Amino acid sequence: MKRHLSLLAALFLAASSILRADEGMWMLPLLQKMNAQAMADLGCRLTAEQIYSINNSSLKDAIVHFGGGCTAEMISGEGLLVTNHHCGYSGIQSLSTPEHNYLEDGYWAMTRDKELPVPGLSVTFLGSMTDVTDILGKLREQVLKDNRKSDDAEAIADEAVASLKRSLIEQAKADNPGSDAVITSFYNENVHYLIVSKTYRDVRFVGAPPASLGKFGGETDNWEWPRHTCDFSMFRVYAGADNQPSAYSPDNVPYVPARSLRISLKGVQDGDFAMIMGYPGRTQRFQTADQLESMMYQYGVAVKARTVRQAEMLKGMEKDPAIRLKYANKYASSSNAWKKWQGEQLAFDKLKVIEREREKEAQFRAWASSDRKRAKKYGAALDKVSEAVGAQRLPRYEMYVLSESVARIAAIDVFFEFAETVSEALAESDDTSAVRQLALDKASALFKDYDVQTEKDIAVAMLGFLREYGSRESWIDEIGDFGNMDFSAYVERFFEESAFASPENLEAARTRSLRDLMSDPAAILAIAVYERLEKYSGDCVGTRQLLEEGSKEFAAGLLEWKKDEPSYPDANSTMRLTYGTVKSYSPRDGVLYRHYTTLNGVMEKEDPDNYEFRVPSGLKALHEARDYGQYADADGELHTCFLTNCDITGGNSGSPVLNADGELIGLAFDGNWESMSSDVMFEPELQRCICVDIRYVLFIMDKFGGAGHLLDEMNISR
Ligand code: ARG
Repeated sequence: MKRHLSLLAALFLAASSILRADEGMWMLPLLQKMNAQAMADLGCRLTAEQIYSINNSSLKDAIVHFGGGCTAEMISGEGLLVTNHHCGYSGIQSLSTPEHNYLEDGYWAMTRDKELPVPGLSVTFLGSMTDVTDILGKLREQVLKDNRKSDDAEAIADEAVASLKRSLIEQAKADNPGSDAVITSFYNENVHYLIVSKTYRDVRFVGAPPASLGKFGGETDNWEWPRHTCDFSMFRVYAGADNQPSAYSPDNVPYVPARSLRISLKGVQDGDFAMIMGYPGRTQRFQTADQLESMMYQYGVAVKARTVRQAEMLKGMEKDPAIRLKYANKYASSSNAWKKWQGEQLAFDKLKVIEREREKEAQFRAWASSDRKRAKKYGAALDKVSEAVGAQRLPRYEMYVLSESVARIAAIDVFFEFAETVSEALAESDDTSAVRQLALDKASALFKDYDVQTEKDIAVAMLGFLREYGSRESWIDEIGDFGNMDFSAYVERFFEESAFASPENLEAARTRSLRDLMSDPAAILAIAVYERLEKYSGDCVGTRQLLEEGSKEFAAGLLEWKKDEPSYPDANSTMRLTYGTVKSYSPRDGVLYRHYTTLNGVMEKEDPDNYEFRVPSGLKALHEARDYGQYADADGELHTCFLTNCDITGGNSGSPVLNADGELIGLAFDGNWESMSSDVMFEPELQRCICVDIRYVLFIMDKFGGAGHLLDEMNISR
């Protein structure tokens, strides 16, 4: 019997490690050790060194962190990059006006001088990642030993480690001129890497499809398969004459990257090897069930607040295309998380995520307590986290209620922009009148994406939301008898009196004194909100250290418990690689989702009366003529999107999907509805990454957009 059991266990282990082949946001410096064999077994023809090398050019040199929140990749030796449309979205929106609406109508720069600088947009190239855990740890040990008689040993050791970190960073910067360096921690502060990178700040918009294609399916199709979104946009990185970062200048020249990607037009088959490199933002795979429960509780109220606020935005957007443009980005980013959180809750329930996490924790406790040394190191980890999470639950909830409701009244942002500029500028100059004008100018820039009536409606709704969902303590009594006041009347008065509530009021306030502006109705509201947010975050401070300690011990314990298996840390906006295969899936009993979609599906979904499902006539003509050129699949169809079982999350958007030879076959842009709990637990049977086929991208650029000249600088394999 016993023998059978262990045989069964062995079989089970083998099966689960096969299932795990596709899970993981792997760290680049560890590929050789952890993944090279498994990748080769799946069909990858590249070595770890070809993917990530600190001495030679490698694939990672073609991948950038785009705007801090997305991924993009170089596709020419002249600085051209491609990312998602939804990643270029805020930049494109900021360049657009009702007269030149690039977001709505699309855009292609037919010559280099038509490429449009995007102020504030940057891209960052990874130089190297070096594990410094040991040197930091050894120093700490030594200092603790040297000071074992002192009561302040911990503090002295902390300071010594902090100082070593500073000097490692300074050294790295000195060794790599023009680069930045940071030390980033992994596995809940158990592992530390020194990361060297270089940021370019002259990034110009090259082109994108109209929103009808780049965002085809809109919020309805977002997070879902089958998908037909042509989610791409193109930009170009510019550098100084020395190819080094340089602030925008008309004299800058296209950046020459150490590596750009070759593009494959060969298409994909079910089962083909696929891998994705990019910058996943945040996951919660090393959090405890208590943390996850608390997180879902906060998301719940955030969803309710966004439902109310988005309805007000949409009312304005549907009235007037100019308002639609102003709110396009605010709406899309709000709604993206709003839909994600709802899907996450459904998936948590359906897939019993919390229950499975609790089961794992029970096993972890058993493992930890079965050995004296382990019990000492890890035995209290879960209870520490649990105690801290319990203490923080309510203040965090209040924080969410407030920051998702009244804190979203845009006049508050306008005021803070003003106040921050004043305080910075006064540090440099005592010409108060000049400072005031400068600050008013900066504040007034925020009105570009602001419609007075929509903001009034949002303000009334958000005040009402706070009264309904916030505790009495979070009510803003500074503005009146909050429990009984008439919010519409208050908001009308506010918009009449506040300098920060409309462009007209702001202009009229040019002559008001600084002191007067600092007691504006928007200032009173802003400061009241800010003080409460500070208070709630202060309420969490007492248990912050307990939480950090418990989390760190829990992750360290998990690593020791599973030390024979390859592991990867939670996503933290550092570059990762995930690999697997192109793969179909079954969303529910009796239904099989094929691994790709075609242009025929765009026509099937077309609805001229629905903003989200319009199809431009030019595309219909190409479809009717089946004029797909070199972009057609061997089956004669134009493939639009496809699926892989790679493991991604937000931040991976725009990431290159690469074939076994490292050629670009698509861009990752979304996850699927059936596995929305994926940030917490990977679901091998259900979880898929939705990618736009690179052939659809190039077809739209070339045949629909008429920007075929860009092909000349690309390296295409047919
Ligand atoms: N779900 C996608 C992601 O998080 C973003 C899609 C943006 N589009 C939208 N309809 N809001 O990467």
